[in-house]
Amino acid sequence: MDLAPPRSARARTDTAARPLEAAAVRSWDAADPLRDFRERFELPPDVVYLDGNSLGALPRSTRERLAQVISAEWGMGLIRSWNDSDWIGAPRRVGDKIARLIGAQPGEVIVADSTSANLYKLIHVALAARPDRSEILSEPGNFPSDLYVIEGALRATPGRVLRLEPAERIADCISENTALVVLTHVHYKSASVHDMRAITARAHEHGALVIWDLSHSAGAVEVDVGACNVDMAVGCGYKYLNGGPGAPAYLFVARRHQATAVSPLSGWMGHGRPFDFVDRYEPARGIERFLCGTPPILGVLSLECGVDLLLEAGAAQLQAKSRRLSELFIALVQEMCSDSGLRLLSPADASARGSHLAYAHPHGYAIMRALIDRGVIGDFRAPDALRFGFTPLYLRYADIWTAVITLRDVLRTQCWSEPRYAARAAVT
Ligand SMILES: Cc1ncc(COP(=O)(O)O)c(C=O)c1O
Repeated sequence: MDLAPPRSARARTDTAARPLEAAAVRSWDAADPLRDFRERFELPPDVVYLDGNSLGALPRSTRERLAQVISAEWGMGLIRSWNDSDWIGAPRRVGDKIARLIGAQPGEVIVADSTSANLYKLIHVALAARPDRSEILSEPGNFPSDLYVIEGALRATPGRVLRLEPAERIADCISENTALVVLTHVHYKSASVHDMRAITARAHEHGALVIWDLSHSAGAVEVDVGACNVDMAVGCGYKYLNGGPGAPAYLFVARRHQATAVSPLSGWMGHGRPFDFVDRYEPARGIERFLCGTPPILGVLSLECGVDLLLEAGAAQLQAKSRRLSELFIALVQEMCSDSGLRLLSPADASARGSHLAYAHPHGYAIMRALIDRGVIGDFRAPDALRFGFTPLYLRYADIWTAVITLRDVLRTQCWSEPRYAARAAVT
């Protein structure tokens, strides 16, 4: 691949322009069926945002919707808006929309709490359903919060252990001892994808349950929890779903498990009749039983705006573009940054990875800080990974070109070695 920078990148580079190749990239943007979605996001003009896998960009519709919710529904409607604007129904309504993104049925998904808290609830449900089994199986290097939450759940239900096995051995390690398998579908760092269908089937053959973490999947890669016969899943609202910082998360429980599944966080919003104010807990009939406290309405409604955009775009188009973006990034890095010490940590085969890429480099943190200073925003995952997310809704192919040219310049000039890039910020 041999491509020249788009106009926006030339000012920052010393590369002689190669207009034919630049035209090729621009022609991909011109032919992109998702190209009009970019205008529906607020994005700073001089930024290439490769961090939608950590915090999605702001949809313009969210700004308008929140302004209306704050001034009209909260400001004027006050408490009446729980009924008049159906705030009370929002977690279920938005859950039903997310269900369409992940192949679930209406009534199988609800928006609530954080991913971590939802995982805690579902681990308890699974362990209660498999009382005679001793193991929870997961992989080392799974998202840390998932492992910490498993530890916490095990402290509350002694007599069981967490067994960590490498990804490639997980399926073989499922046995009659396994109560539950907890895996992140698209790995948060490497982006490698588990075979959801095969692992779920294998678990079921042995009578075990599986909880999938879809935080890096929904909105980026095609997911079909129905076709894969998934038991339960959790996922995050603030990444590809563009719900905003600290957006509420969601959980999925297949309908066949709902009647016997009782949340350990049995708060009033999960009660069948919360406004009867009775003393005893009686779970709601359906997925609402997994609510705990009062839903964060501003967050739920922001999330709805982000999800609406994804539904409009369609999963197949999103996945196809995400692959093409990351393939372009890999090809350009190979061409322009060879001998720079970067090592691809993600699978080279696009069908085996999600919508981000990780590269190891011994000076990864400083390099990412220098990139961010130059308008290319990705993130860093300890100990040494630069992570770049490819959000198909608002990234252009030309942005990938700009990003790699900038990366090449940062590596070549070693500007990352300035002392100011060494100090770790609280959030990386
Ligand atoms: C795969 C995965 N699981 C869980 C979480 C934690 O989500 P939350 O902060 O909503 O608990 C994250 C956050 O980045 C994540 O990437």
